[in-house]
Amino acid sequence: MDKFIIHGGKKLKGTVQVSGAKNASLALMPAALLNSGRNKLYNTPELNDVYTMLKLLSQMGVKFSFSNHILELNTTEINSFEAPYEHVKKMRASIYVLGPLVARYGYAKVSMPGGCAWGPRPVNLHLMAMEKLGAEITFEQGYIIASANKLKGNYINFDIPSVGATGNTLMAAVLAKGNTIINNAACEPEITNLCNFLIKMGAKIEGVGTSIIEVEGVDELHPADIETIPDRIEAGTLLIAGAITRSNIKVIGGITNHLHSILSKLEDSGCKLFYNKESIEINSENIEIKPIDVTTAVFPGFPTDMQAQWMAYMSLAVGTSNVTDTIYKDRFNHVPELVRLGVDIVMNENTARIVGVEKLKGAKVMSTDLRASASLVLAGLAAEGVTEVLRVYHIDRGYQRIEEKLKELGADIERVEGSEY
Ligand code: UD1
Repeated sequence: MDKFIIHGGKKLKGTVQVSGAKNASLALMPAALLNSGRNKLYNTPELNDVYTMLKLLSQMGVKFSFSNHILELNTTEINSFEAPYEHVKKMRASIYVLGPLVARYGYAKVSMPGGCAWGPRPVNLHLMAMEKLGAEITFEQGYIIASANKLKGNYINFDIPSVGATGNTLMAAVLAKGNTIINNAACEPEITNLCNFLIKMGAKIEGVGTSIIEVEGVDELHPADIETIPDRIEAGTLLIAGAITRSNIKVIGGITNHLHSILSKLEDSGCKLFYNKESIEINSENIEIKPIDVTTAVFPGFPTDMQAQWMAYMSLAVGTSNVTDTIYKDRFNHVPELVRLGVDIVMNENTARIVGVEKLKGAKVMSTDLRASASLVLAGLAAEGVTEVLRVYHIDRGYQRIEEKLKELGADIERVEGSEY
């Protein structure tokens, strides 16, 4: 297990490129199971979660090549329809194979994802939708088994707009007989990216990017190519790296339309932002950070995947701010670790109340999940002295070599390989 050693307090400068979106790739990759042939996924990030998905797909018979961020998936010879526990326990997004497998092959056996580091994460909406489309769902020794002769279009209403359930339902409905309406669908850009890939394969989808998506099933889909959208969470994290270190940096490649909730909160906090199609420049030199509350919400609201990083930033605000997570009410594993760095936080149910301090102080801290580790790195960049962030395998799941990107910006951060961390 590697760790990061950060000598904090350095100003950052220069430009940094955003990679492809993890959450888009994890939906696009299994979508290739819907056709037979060679699909090219451009701008695929080199992340551990992508490699986990590749292992899962390979074990089903998918052949691949992956270089220069171009991932080619050849889905001609699929011979297994199972997502085993060893992959699903590492990455919940493995559940994305359920929809495409049952739609195209009439059978899928997927390990139940179980809980995760920050509490229960049910898949009831995924299963409800598969049943509505005509799949028979049974459970056997910790596995979900879905089978169907031919899925049939239906009206599907989600009580909560779930990204994963919307993606899975789309991937099933495109090959179902007849029309499907998904009401209260997730509107996240990663779902739009998936819809566009499906459309390129020959799927008929209306209402892309809205909360009511209509799918007219087709008999078969053909291979296609797609550009993975830039990672809005990585872009947001890098912008906060600039903000928290009182620096002036330029983030290249983020899509501003995907980032408005984060950009406007950064502006409210006093940062100066300049953006155009290609880049977003942030300048927080000499500003007094204003305390700004955030409440997470579905897109285009403030993403739950950014609340930990926002808390790290608000720890240096002049005054008190509140961060409320309404999507995952238990997602606060980073709190005790941030406290070790000098952050003043009091929890009240799903709200963290952060009283800004003048300085953070370096310490040894433990990553507990992906975005929690990002918040610790950000706090470490701003803290006085040395911060050691242990168990960075969490951050490697979703950020492509973040320490190299931060080093390019002038941060003093080193990866130390080792086993005892
Ligand atoms: C995706 C993202 C994750 C992000 C999350 C919320 C991927 C691979 N992961 O996760 O990074 O934090 O969206 O933006 O894209 N829910 C149910 N039943 C279900 C499914 C979800 O109750 O069957 C609930 C969840 O507990 C949560 C809410 O719906 O409270 C949203 O979760 P969802 O959008 O499904 O998250 P994921 O797709 O798992």
